[in-house]
Amino acid sequence: MQIGSGTRALVTGASRGIGRALAHELADRGATVGLAARSVHDLEVVAAELPGAHHVLVCDVAIRASVQAAVEDFVAATGGIDLLIVNAGIAHYEPVIDQDVETMELMTEVNWLGTIYTVKAALEHLLADGGGHIVVMSSGAGLRSFPGAAAYSATKAAQRMFAEAIRHELHGTGVSVTTVFPGEIATSLLEHQPAGEMPDWYRGAEAAPAEDLAVRVVKAIERDRRGLYWKAPVKGMGILHGFSPRWADRALRRLRGDSAAPRRD
Ligand SMILES: NC(=O)c1ccc[n+]([C@@H]2O[C@H](COP(=O)([O-])OP(=O)(O)OC[C@H]3O[C@@H](n4cnc5c(N)ncnc54)[C@H](OP(=O)(O)O)[C@@H]3O)[C@@H](O)[C@H]2O)c1
Repeated sequence: MQIGSGTRALVTGASRGIGRALAHELADRGATVGLAARSVHDLEVVAAELPGAHHVLVCDVAIRASVQAAVEDFVAATGGIDLLIVNAGIAHYEPVIDQDVETMELMTEVNWLGTIYTVKAALEHLLADGGGHIVVMSSGAGLRSFPGAAAYSATKAAQRMFAEAIRHELHGTGVSVTTVFPGEIATSLLEHQPAGEMPDWYRGAEAAPAEDLAVRVVKAIERDRRGLYWKAPVKGMGILHGFSPRWADRALRRLRGDSAAPRRD
């Protein structure tokens, strides 16, 4: 699909980071954007920054009724949805032995169940209009998991499998699906964790700008790409890991140090 004036786009996680950058990219092209997240003040700030008139949708994607109400409010205001960007997410990096089950449950609820709730709430509207596009914001962590990111990566892999299947299920309906696999992007995703507690392999200081990713996501939608891998090493690591996890371990140790894949047997 082409994005322009007349495109009705709902973006979850639009109050900050990648979602905010996507909202800017879409609004700059003339789209009407539904800005969904929990923080009303931050959403209002984003809405005020954007050219044109947009819709603040306060919701918690981990609560089914909440995301459903946000979708219905957007449809009531605009008449439908052409583009759904399932982006809201949280991350907590800790070894499984140290991580509370409650933290793992929360990541599962927001990242994975939130994806199901959002897609299920919007899909009938996309189908009713005979076309449109869904973007699922997975992660490079959904292709190859790292120590300390077990539960987070599991939610991102779940999103990947879900998106892969529905792209095929929706064949012939006019609705398509792109999965996005970013590497490290400069956002507030892990700001809640003190730098000293981050795994040694983490390279937050080298993270890429969210705005650069947003430009690529929009191009990927317009070209109906199955997947967007950014930056390039993310795809390389996914291919290598699929071919030989042992070789991927070696490559990761070289790129990110021993903590990225310490077990050699
Ligand atoms: N940054 C990276 O390096 C990176 C890499 C790969 C993939 N990703 C993925 O990119 C997506 C966006 O993350 P980001 O990096 O932009 O992080 P971010 O700056 O922390 O933004 C996260 C967004 O999600 C929203 N959100 C969190 N919990 C929510 C909930 N329960 N209901 C509704 N909205 C919620 C936040 O808004 P409120 O707090 O206002 O609700 C915020 O708008 C995530 O799915 C993340 O897994 C990020």
